[in-house]
Amino acid sequence: MCGKGFFCYVQRGRFVKLAIGADHGGFALKKIMMEFITGMGHDVMDCGAYSLEPGDDYPDFAGAVARAIQQGQASRGILICGSGVGAGVAANKFEGIRAAVCHDVFSARQGVEDDDMNVLCLGERIVGAGAAREAVRVFLNAGFSGAQRHLRRLNKVKSMEREFFK
Ligand code: RB5
Repeated sequence: MCGKGFFCYVQRGRFVKLAIGADHGGFALKKIMMEFITGMGHDVMDCGAYSLEPGDDYPDFAGAVARAIQQGQASRGILICGSGVGAGVAANKFEGIRAAVCHDVFSARQGVEDDDMNVLCLGERIVGAGAAREAVRVFLNAGFSGAQRHLRRLNKVKSMEREFFK
């Protein structure tokens, strides 16, 4: 838990159990984002890397975050690599994962509200810590609108996913 009990809900309105992962390309930004997210009162599960290893591979951390969401240990995820792209590509191979690179607040909010994005991907070599914090803040505070047109589109995506996984 967040350690602040009910206060988390009162403070933020929306409490998120979040899984975060990064390869060497996103290692430094992961530390900054973890401090920021725990400071907001959210619960963060660190899926690694736990040390800076220049030879590590982003699919390993994308898989760890995706599995944490699939198994219900987290409801959302953040993945960071050099560009955000590789981690996003890998995460989207997992059923139920909707990951995208969003370095701006518009995409980070709309990706959740309209598309039910559940994994935000960031590129440490592209985005500064300030912009990353803002993208993460709106990502965590946003919720899927449930509007009929967005539900219809989401159901089409899920139907494509079912076809792929059968
Ligand atoms: C690793 O050097 C780099 O390729 C990786 O972090 C990521 O940017 C891939 O998309």
